[in-house]
Amino acid sequence: MAEYDGMKVPSHVAIIMDGNGRWAKKRGRPRSFGHAQGCTVVEQTVRDAADLGIDYLTVYAFSTENWKRSEEEVSALMRLFRIYIKKLLKVALEKNVKVVMIGERSRFAPDLIAGLNELEEKTRDNTRMTFVIAINYGSRDEIRRAMTRMAEDVKRGLVQPEAVSEELISSYLDTAGLPDPDLLIRTSGELRLSNFLLWQLAYTELYVTDVLWPDFNKDELIRAIRAYNGRERRFGGVVS
Ligand code: FPP
Repeated sequence: MAEYDGMKVPSHVAIIMDGNGRWAKKRGRPRSFGHAQGCTVVEQTVRDAADLGIDYLTVYAFSTENWKRSEEEVSALMRLFRIYIKKLLKVALEKNVKVVMIGERSRFAPDLIAGLNELEEKTRDNTRMTFVIAINYGSRDEIRRAMTRMAEDVKRGLVQPEAVSEELISSYLDTAGLPDPDLLIRTSGELRLSNFLLWQLAYTELYVTDVLWPDFNKDELIRAIRAYNGRERRFGGVVS
């Protein structure tokens, strides 16, 4: 765990980036304007997190429920992803950041899938920070897909029912090999998990700020880390 300004920097920070729509509405602009600013903030947050010594940064970029938004908004988000995949590749190469995706990418257009694959492949050997993008991600869908694969392995005799441990379940999830988040930040004030990392957040400290995602910045990230440092970490009753 790194230190910054006398504070312990949590190894894994996860973020629910909420409030793009409200930010745009306050300015009398379309929701896509908020998403565009939100993307710029994602790019900057990757830099800030790497500079602060965070080891893993996970962001909720597009949920399985987000397909239900208007066609106009979904296609604006797809356009932005196409642009930002390229920008993120530059940032990741510059900052020695490895990018990985969780979620079910097969529903995206072929060129977008190719871009996401390229982002992972070209950053595979980077070591300073791992940036996890949850895209077409929903925790229940992740668990459903994991259970389907596990049931197949049981049927084929590769897994015995008695051998199903918490570690084994974790190894079937999209986040296999990644540590659980230490700190979850949710912007824009809502007190919900919104189907994000339900299994992985079991012991995570939660921090909710009223700041809208497009207004999030390094100072806000440091504020969240400061709040985290003020918490007593409890794992089943024992203060660690
Ligand atoms: C929540 O705001 C935001 C989203 C549904 C999309 C978040 C996506 C980004 C910020 C882009 C991520 C980009 C990359 C490149 C990883 P909202 O629309 O729910 O806002 P509202 O609650 O105010 O309506």
